[in-house]
Amino acid sequence: MKSIKRSVDIRQLEEGMILAETIFDIDGKVLFNEGLRLNQKRIVRIQKLDIKQCLVEDREAQPVHKNVVKESASLFEKKAAYRKSVILNETRQEATLVVEDLLSKVLDGNSLKADRIKKIVGKIIDVILMDDRVVLNLSNLSAIDDYLLSHSVNVCVLSLITGIYYGLTQNKLMQLGTGALIHDIGKMLIPQDIYHKPEKLTEEEYEIMKNHTVYGHKILSGNLNLENDTANIALWHHERVDGLGYPHGLNRHEIPIFAKIVAIADVFDAMTSDRIYCKRIDYYQGVYYLIEHADTQFDTDIIKKFIIMIGYYPIGLYVKLNTGDIGQVMTKNKLCPVVRVTQDANGERLASYYEIDLYKNPSISIIDINIDEFKIRKASK
Ligand SMILES: [Fe+2]
Repeated sequence: MKSIKRSVDIRQLEEGMILAETIFDIDGKVLFNEGLRLNQKRIVRIQKLDIKQCLVEDREAQPVHKNVVKESASLFEKKAAYRKSVILNETRQEATLVVEDLLSKVLDGNSLKADRIKKIVGKIIDVILMDDRVVLNLSNLSAIDDYLLSHSVNVCVLSLITGIYYGLTQNKLMQLGTGALIHDIGKMLIPQDIYHKPEKLTEEEYEIMKNHTVYGHKILSGNLNLENDTANIALWHHERVDGLGYPHGLNRHEIPIFAKIVAIADVFDAMTSDRIYCKRIDYYQGVYYLIEHADTQFDTDIIKKFIIMIGYYPIGLYVKLNTGDIGQVMTKNKLCPVVRVTQDANGERLASYYEIDLYKNPSISIIDINIDEFKIRKASK
């Protein structure tokens, strides 16, 4: 019989169970390998970890829903099905050093080389792609003290996972990741008293700050000699789809997809990180902010994919499952909320709803989000 994976509360682990996932520590080091048979000693060690559940093999269980679709072999669907940590600490530290070095060279007027940036972006892509069950643990993203460095790496990772959903080629991912990693490099050329000002900027100072986009583009396309698609990320990551962004006030059709992706990653990470002048908001609030500004500031389709990749679904959001069924998110469970199914795959409203816990049913996942419905219902309350 083919085994399927089942999520178990770690307090209910039993001897003889087989781990159906590799468990990592916070630094990305392997603690327990997938396939390991649990004994009492291992169970005690797992129960001391900062996790609530883990996957075990379940040879008895059958898929619970008659409409379960066969899992696609596509990269994204595999990732969406069983997600875990990680961008390995080592890679993160290396990326931070590369960005730090690059930023200091901008200030010193030294010649910049694109090779090192591309090498580290290649490594980040490899880490994200290397395990089809590995995606991202957002809590690992706030491990670095220096905000700009930490933010640069975070925006790179968040942009890349969105790019992966779009099925971008390795070459395109490289262009996206490179531009995302150094999207704010132009800030190095902003006068320090403005860049480091802890209080709100005056209107005049804000106008000066906006120039970081143009300066960044100059560095990327000039000294670094990077492709147009990459350099334009630095130039246009503050453009907004309603045409009210800067520096050029481009409209939705004029903003390239890379700049739209980085705009979302940039704002989401900024809001969910502690900054000098502002306390972080939680990931659900960050997602809520994106939804509220869908189609005005940000591209709606990219927001949907971004949310699915990070897996934070606000309560009340309407989602479509890979079974085709449609329902509403009822709980705040990262990646795997309880969904109240109200419509079947044919769009027919059910006579009575039923609830499905995606945590207990790992073969069922969210594949689409209805942002408009969510906004309308919120507005009418
Ligand atoms: Fe920026």
